[in-house]
Amino acid sequence: MRPAWPGGLWAGVDVLRLYPGTAARLHVALRWGLFPFGALLPFVPESGLAVDLGCGHGLWPLLLARARPGLHIHAIDPDADKIALARAAARAANLSNIQFFVGTAEEAALPPCHLISLVDVLYLVPWRLQEQLLARAAGCLVRGGRLLLKEMSERPRWKARWNRVQEFLSVRLLRITWGSGFYFREGAAWEALLRHLGLRTWTVRLDAGRPHPHLLLVGER
Ligand SMILES: C[S@@+](CC[C@H](N)C(=O)[O-])C[C@H]1O[C@@H](n2cnc3c(N)ncnc32)[C@H](O)[C@@H]1O
Repeated sequence: MRPAWPGGLWAGVDVLRLYPGTAARLHVALRWGLFPFGALLPFVPESGLAVDLGCGHGLWPLLLARARPGLHIHAIDPDADKIALARAAARAANLSNIQFFVGTAEEAALPPCHLISLVDVLYLVPWRLQEQLLARAAGCLVRGGRLLLKEMSERPRWKARWNRVQEFLSVRLLRITWGSGFYFREGAAWEALLRHLGLRTWTVRLDAGRPHPHLLLVGER
């Protein structure tokens, strides 16, 4: 029987074993521990095409591919090393409904799709490009299709400050994350942007008991 990896510590242990090498496993273990990927599953359809932009090591698309075998998934990231690791993990998990590509979100081909996700990515994309990308994404969703935009809230302040320190370390100092600047927006500004694009929009806080102010915006066409 296929475990669904819905989240939690033991699911995380199963997932990190798919990755080759200690460095990748450490990174993936940390990421799995910091964000409850399984909390996104209630917002995704059973079938159709899903595109994950800025997939990193591919944790979210792997979980999605396992939990929703009826979905076909395209996952894209500009970091070729992370994509190589994500492909290795998908092979190890025997998942055939997922394809990984190297590229930026701005340049990615977006066919008509049922789900587009951006999990902690847009804050690395300049504001003007964010707007263009979101407009293109909204236009590619089929009727009833959803955009999942995971960003960080500005509240509470202590969580937002902690997030900025960590981002400074991983993007600017240690260069673990691909990117050169930060382009944060307040939750209300993201919400207004998605509404302006004609999407029925709501927000869900995912930070109870966690140090980061995780905020999910769902936009439905
Ligand atoms: C914080 S990581 C999140 C990775 C993954 N979505 C996750 O939740 O584990 C940010 C990711 O955004 C990617 N990224 C940076 N700039 C990007 C861009 N312009 N287009 C797409 N992805 C980008 C980085 O390579 C990195 O993998």
